Amino acid sequence: MKFLIEGRKPLKGEVAVAGSKNAALKIFPVALLTRKAIRVFNVPEIEDVFRAQEMLVALGHEVKKIKNRIFEIKFKKQKYFDLPVNLVNKFRASVMFVGPMLATCGQVRFSHPGGCVIGAGARPIDLFLDSFQKMGAKINISGNYYHLTAKKLKGANIFFSKISVTATESLMTTACFACGETILKNCAMEPEIVGLAQYLNSCGAKIKGAGTPTIKITGIKKLKGGEYKIIPDRIEAGTFAMLAAASNSGEVLIKNFNPAHLESLWALFDKIGVNYELDKSSVKISRSKKLVSCDATTHEYPGFATDLQSPYSVLMTQAYGSSLIHETIHDRRLLFTDILTQMGANIIMADPHRVVINGPTPLYGRQLVSPDLRAGVALIIAALIAFGKTTIDNIYQIERGYEKLDERLRALGADIKRIDN
Ligand code: UD1
Repeated sequence: MKFLIEGRKPLKGEVAVAGSKNAALKIFPVALLTRKAIRVFNVPEIEDVFRAQEMLVALGHEVKKIKNRIFEIKFKKQKYFDLPVNLVNKFRASVMFVGPMLATCGQVRFSHPGGCVIGAGARPIDLFLDSFQKMGAKINISGNYYHLTAKKLKGANIFFSKISVTATESLMTTACFACGETILKNCAMEPEIVGLAQYLNSCGAKIKGAGTPTIKITGIKKLKGGEYKIIPDRIEAGTFAMLAAASNSGEVLIKNFNPAHLESLWALFDKIGVNYELDKSSVKISRSKKLVSCDATTHEYPGFATDLQSPYSVLMTQAYGSSLIHETIHDRRLLFTDILTQMGANIIMADPHRVVINGPTPLYGRQLVSPDLRAGVALIIAALIAFGKTTIDNIYQIERGYEKLDERLRALGADIKRIDN
């Protein structure tokens, strides 16, 4: 399937933010630890989440949709130790299943996780492996395959040499079932990590410090099941906010999220001159007089999210002046700006981590292929503000993270259709 977009339609109206992809993906593997029924609310119905659900089913468990966005997981006796390659290949967060399998089954076999190709080579998992080893796991690597074994995991003192969201979440989750105390240092502090810790604690875990650089986990023997409401997707909210700002064509209300999770974006909006108004759980973007360029550097939370860098780059093509975008988290994430250049943007790549965008420039519709999830959504924004028609192929990549995006954009007035290849 492809998206066919006719650009420059005025956008106005309301859009509700879905549950967070990056939170949802970490909740499903927890079922391996709780071994009890879990009911999850506000689940985004997106491809990566479907893959996480399929993973549980492939491991022998039951996942049932109760109604829209509500799913129930029923734990059955754990049958397999292998994470299916066809699923592991599809999303990076599949690595979240490794720790719980190791902690409860004593072993796990898996291939190198897939996902967006935005890091050096395959995105590394060394932080996970080093940490599991510190907790007593034996690791056998053969080609692209890993076999981890551990009779019993023991608590450990782990300093992450790099700040990693998923490594923090994975070790925090796994350590719940290790013997004794685990201290994780130099942790990521994303709101999704806090949500995961709150959920695990509500199931009986003993986790302290989530949302700070040091997390302490005291091992326990059992977790009970429970209910969890996924927090709203701050990245989706920020993406819609930048679409509204870049289109600059009408009033757009983005609702059902927590604006406190996007402070770094509002700080940039203040400098750029975006006309926005925050409320408790929404932001209203109105037409701005003039957008001016502003440099941005991606950073771990609460800094400016790397996942918002691509929509921000599109926004900067519409602002007056030069902006330096510095991508510090993922090595290949700026390569997509080459596609914006093909659409008419004036972008100079200084090195793989830095581009200079000179604006404003009109953009023109082209035939495009989505390289990955966040670059894909940025191309949709570019197409929506471009003159003429754009087609975007490989939309699976976009639908990994955004639920019914075409429908929701049409409700705002966009001309976007789904067509066969
Ligand atoms: C998560 C998010 C992703 C976001 C990223 C950074 C999920 C499912 N995905 O990805 O949307 O872009 O955080 O905010 O939550 N690294 C290593 N070794 C490792 C692990 C990571 O070197 O073992 C490096 C990565 O290559 C990258 C950096 O650490 O340069 C941060 O990556 P990380 O925070 O782990 O990203 P993810 O958790 O995969």
